[in-house]
Amino acid sequence: MNPHKERYSNAFTATISGITDLFRKQKNKVFLKEEISLTDKNILITGASSGLGFETAVQLAKRGARVWMACRSGIPEKGDRVRRLSGNDHVKMLPVDLSDMKSIIRLVDSLKESSLKIDRLICNAAVVPSASRKTHQGLEEMFMVNYLAKYLLVRLLLEHNLINMNGNSVPRIIFISSEAHRNPKAFDWEGFGRFREYSMGKTIELYGYYKLLMTTFANELSRRLNQSGQTRCSIFALCPGPVNTHIAREAPVIFKSLLKLIFVVFFKSPEQAVKPVLYLGCSPEVEGNAVGYLFRMSRKEMDPKATDIKNGIRLWQYSEALLESHGIVFRKNMNTG
Ligand SMILES: NC(=O)c1ccc[n+]([C@@H]2O[C@H](COP(=O)([O-])OP(=O)(O)OC[C@H]3O[C@@H](n4cnc5c(N)ncnc54)[C@H](OP(=O)(O)O)[C@@H]3O)[C@@H](O)[C@H]2O)c1
Repeated sequence: MNPHKERYSNAFTATISGITDLFRKQKNKVFLKEEISLTDKNILITGASSGLGFETAVQLAKRGARVWMACRSGIPEKGDRVRRLSGNDHVKMLPVDLSDMKSIIRLVDSLKESSLKIDRLICNAAVVPSASRKTHQGLEEMFMVNYLAKYLLVRLLLEHNLINMNGNSVPRIIFISSEAHRNPKAFDWEGFGRFREYSMGKTIELYGYYKLLMTTFANELSRRLNQSGQTRCSIFALCPGPVNTHIAREAPVIFKSLLKLIFVVFFKSPEQAVKPVLYLGCSPEVEGNAVGYLFRMSRKEMDPKATDIKNGIRLWQYSEALLESHGIVFRKNMNTG
């Protein structure tokens, strides 16, 4: 029996697991030094209008970074708030709807125009829908936002040399994953990218599956970028643990007040939960690491399915082929040979 199957297979067990994890002793702990400066670092954060992404923007701006908040809502007021809370004026907002491929392409076009070289990319945005919804391109929204948008965004940024790989330090790409990535038993290659109808009962299971896709992509990306023992770009993933955010905004009305209470009483605030994001984004200790994963402030192995090379290669090829079927063809050859 896979214990994670039981722990993250529905909203109830996932919530209980999140709470019990908070009381477990953390091994292999890491520590964040508060005084690290990120002056002159360009940081792009997706889903920075709320929750963990918003707090990440505030904290990184406080450390002197130039922050680009890629959001579909909250423009311009969330950017104004980050400027106010951080005392840093180098905060810009860029509109993007990550459920729409064309919007992601427009985001990259606008980054190209500003000749931005990104030192940190934080792929944070995610959605937990109450039921399946179709995107503009006919894909399932949670598959698109929680996985394929990240693949597309990263490939486009690399294609247009917008990741700062020739600077004086190694750039970092950070994926906000979840321990729920351990939940799925296997990959559904047959159904990859196919629209499927589901309702709330299935959402958490699929959420874990898309986190597995994203975490597998993170490993494959690191393998392709960092060959022959040389790290050109660090690739990290993390689970922040349970955080009191708007992630459950689509939960059924009858559960909402109970969930709100559980979130307030047991879950960490974004100010506390942001620490692993800051550690991976700021700390000199991880400089030059090719790949890594944190669960809260502890180093941990990712699920073996996510680190399996065969899965990584297959996922890369399936994602590329799916985007090609939508007319998006990459010029840059990133094959591992
Ligand atoms: N909260 C937890 O307990 C928990 C636990 C483990 C992992 N995580 C992960 O942490 C990350 C942040 O989540 P959160 O808890 O901070 O939730 P949140 O408050 O709901 O924030 C999610 C962010 O994603 C954005 N987003 C959703 N769909 C989008 C789209 N189509 N285009 C652009 N942006 C979109 C949202 O924008 P809008 O404001 O416009 O909707 C929002 O800014 C996620 O990856 C989540 O899976 C959270």
